[in-house]
Order: sequence, then structure tokens, then C-alpha cells
Amino acid sequence: MKFFIDTANLDQIKDAQDMGILDGVTTNPSLMAKEGITGHDNIMKHYVDICNIVEGDVSAEVISTDVDGMIREGEALAELHDQIVIKLPMIKDGVKACKHFSSKGIKTNVTLVFSAGQALLAAKAGATYVSPFIGRLDDISTDGLNLISEIRHIYDNYGFDTQILAASVRHTMHVIDCAKIGADVMTGPLSSIEGLLKHPLTDMGLAKFLADYKKGN
Ligand code: E4P
Repeated sequence: MKFFIDTANLDQIKDAQDMGILDGVTTNPSLMAKEGITGHDNIMKHYVDICNIVEGDVSAEVISTDVDGMIREGEALAELHDQIVIKLPMIKDGVKACKHFSSKGIKTNVTLVFSAGQALLAAKAGATYVSPFIGRLDDISTDGLNLISEIRHIYDNYGFDTQILAASVRHTMHVIDCAKIGADVMTGPLSSIEGLLKHPLTDMGLAKFLADYKKGN
């Protein structure tokens, strides 16, 4: 299972990278705005800064909603760095743009996916990643994890290569449940990754080992 971090915060990206478990980064316009990164040139520079920290794929989202605009933007993003993955919205023109980029061998991430049908379309268009948003489904009393199971089932039926990137992960149990289901990738905040570390028996056991070592020295 690949671990992506879902942020544009460079300190948090460095922190996860330093742990040695980071496989990539996802961003979106809201995450950029949250870090105060605004304006075309600043946003483009920030993508390069992120690529210089991590070794894996970095999703950069287009803001056009027509296919020509998406292709123009996507081409400019792809030229920034070879780690950039073009993030496209799950709308008809997004599917067309996905097909365009996948047939040229350029990596894509189809985002804002909330149904198995949308995930099937993304796979048909050759998406590298499909991003079902589990947290936002949970927010409206719909089982986000069930969507991951449905997509896993469909993709396995036909051997689609598109990787299931569980997005809108909000906490550590989402990460564990996605791993059980067989999501290829998860993207979440640093806290969802760091939560995996925590167990009181680990802390108590370590404290005792250190105390016992001191007794003998
Ligand atoms: C996915 O790539 C999105 O950036 C993200 O996971 C959305 O998460 P949110 O629902 O917590 O905003």
C-alpha cells in the first residue's frame, strides 16, 4: 500500500518524508489556499518545491472545466517536473482529458469520485489513479469504505490497472480499513499516518525496558 500525504504544507511533507514511509503527495486548490499559496506563479513554484522534497508522485490539480483548458493546463503542469501527476475532475471533459493524457503516457489522477460508476469511467479512460473521497461520503451518512470495496471488486473483475487512491482519509482507522479492503494508495493528513504509531503498550513496554536497563548499570 502506498502512503501519500494530503497537504501543501512543506514542513509536514518533510516530516513524513523523513520517516521514510512517504510515496507521494496529493494537493488541491483548497489545500494550496490553506497554506496561503495563491496566484499562478506561486502555485507552480510550490509544486516544484514539493517535488524536490519527495521522491514519488505529486498530484497537481487543473482548474479548467473544459477539455481544451484542462489539456493546456495539464501540459504546463507536466512540464514542471517528471513527478507531476495531472489531477482532473470527474466530469465529462475531465474524462476526455484523462483519455488524452493516458494515451500519451502522462500520469493522471481522476478526483472528486463518489460512485462506483464514476470509478469505472475513470478506469476506462486509462486513469493512473482514481480518488474516491471516503471522508466526504461519511460526512453525509454514506459509507465511504463501502465505495472502496465496490471499486476494488469491479477493478479486480476486469484487471483494470487504475490504482485506487483512497482520498479524503480523515483518521487512522480509515487507513487501516482501506488497507484491509485492498486500496492501492491512501492519501490523508500527517495525523492519520502518525496515529498508526500509537499504542499504550508500546510506550509502557519501552519505559520498562529503559528503567530495567538503568537498574543494571
Ligand atoms: C484528494 O486528493 C483530496 O485532496 C482530499 O483527500 C480531500 O480531502 P477532504 O475531504 O478532507 O478535503
